[in-house]
Amino acid sequence: DETIVLSELAKRMGIKANEMIVKLMGMGVMATVNQTIDYDTAVLVAGEFDYEVEKASFEEEVILKKTGEDDPGKLVPRPPVVTIMGHVDHGKTSLLDVIRKTRVTEGEAGGITQHIGAYHVETEKGVIAFLDTPGHEAFSAMRSRGAKVTDIVVLVVAADDGVMPQTVEAINHSKASGVPIIVAVNKMDKPGADPDRVQRELSEHGLMSEAWGGDAIFVMVSAKEGSGIDELLEMILLQAEILELKANPDKLASGHVVEAKLDSGRGPVATVLVQEGTLRAGDSIVCGMHYGKIRVLQDDLSRTVESAGPSMPVEIVGLSGVPMAGDELVALADEKDARQVSQHRTQKQRSKELAKTNRLSLEGLFEKM
Ligand code: GTP
Ligand code: MG
Repeated sequence: DETIVLSELAKRMGIKANEMIVKLMGMGVMATVNQTIDYDTAVLVAGEFDYEVEKASFEEEVILKKTGEDDPGKLVPRPPVVTIMGHVDHGKTSLLDVIRKTRVTEGEAGGITQHIGAYHVETEKGVIAFLDTPGHEAFSAMRSRGAKVTDIVVLVVAADDGVMPQTVEAINHSKASGVPIIVAVNKMDKPGADPDRVQRELSEHGLMSEAWGGDAIFVMVSAKEGSGIDELLEMILLQAEILELKANPDKLASGHVVEAKLDSGRGPVATVLVQEGTLRAGDSIVCGMHYGKIRVLQDDLSRTVESAGPSMPVEIVGLSGVPMAGDELVALADEKDARQVSQHRTQKQRSKELAKTNRLSLEGLFEKM
């Protein structure tokens, strides 16, 4: 059943909890600040404060909240989610490819079938989810919305090129999100490789290697030769252990879109990282402005799967439109709820755009005057 804590509802409506308690008493309902009240009561008391307009968004919050409560006993360890970042051409994709080639696709005919930007890698010591974010778009989008998707950043710096603008950008992103960084000094095979220079330049940005007396983890690698990869994976899993990452797989799923596109044959296709719960084929979902029922669920090797648990990247088909990278995905028990939330969001977006055009036409008017 849908419920909400009294103080939370009061906060969302911008009124004092005491006022709400008094109003509820007047309605014959005795409640305390930390008590949960049911949906119908919430709607009634909200109405008393002229909150019909907000009712829709309250509904959305309540529906979405249902998936958010966690029984600590249900939390189980989950794989780390690692985002590969770094300057253009420093070897992010090459590094991911070599990790996948040696780890995932061994003995698997077909090898790397396609680039979906999110991968599930099984090592002897544990599973790791990797995100390859060209231009960091998804990462920035999610960060600006306060969503935390990445547990660890692997910062790729080419040993022959050193710290570049996007290297610094990646460091700032990671720091702002409080995500630990592991430095992969790549292209160590190149004649011009100068790892000392990389260490010196990174120390100027607050990343001091252990060799230099700091506590940042540096691993020397070559994506071309495949050297240092085992050590890099080991460092990632060590760091993950420290973070004690956990999630509850035993509920409706939520996660974020890593990338999405319109496929001429399949319609809207989204690569999603499941973060909480378990996503299943047939689930009703809301994703950004869109909704739908999952028709096809596939892993990073385009194999159809029945379900995907925490930290698992999957491709989904069945949405009403193409979501944006960074959009949240939530599975709902009821298809009607999914449509309602999506419609509500679309309406909100429309009125926002309308307000914008009104403003623009006003500006245009002033220019003419
Ligand atoms: P963007 O996605 O465009 O930002 O680039 P990226 O960081 O993904 O780099 P990518 O993996 O595409 O590699 C860029 C170039 O560097 C390619 O030509 C690679 O073959 C080359 N390269 C990557 N890693 C190594 C390496 O370890 N050694 C050498 N010699 N070349 C490498
Ligand atoms: Mg790339």
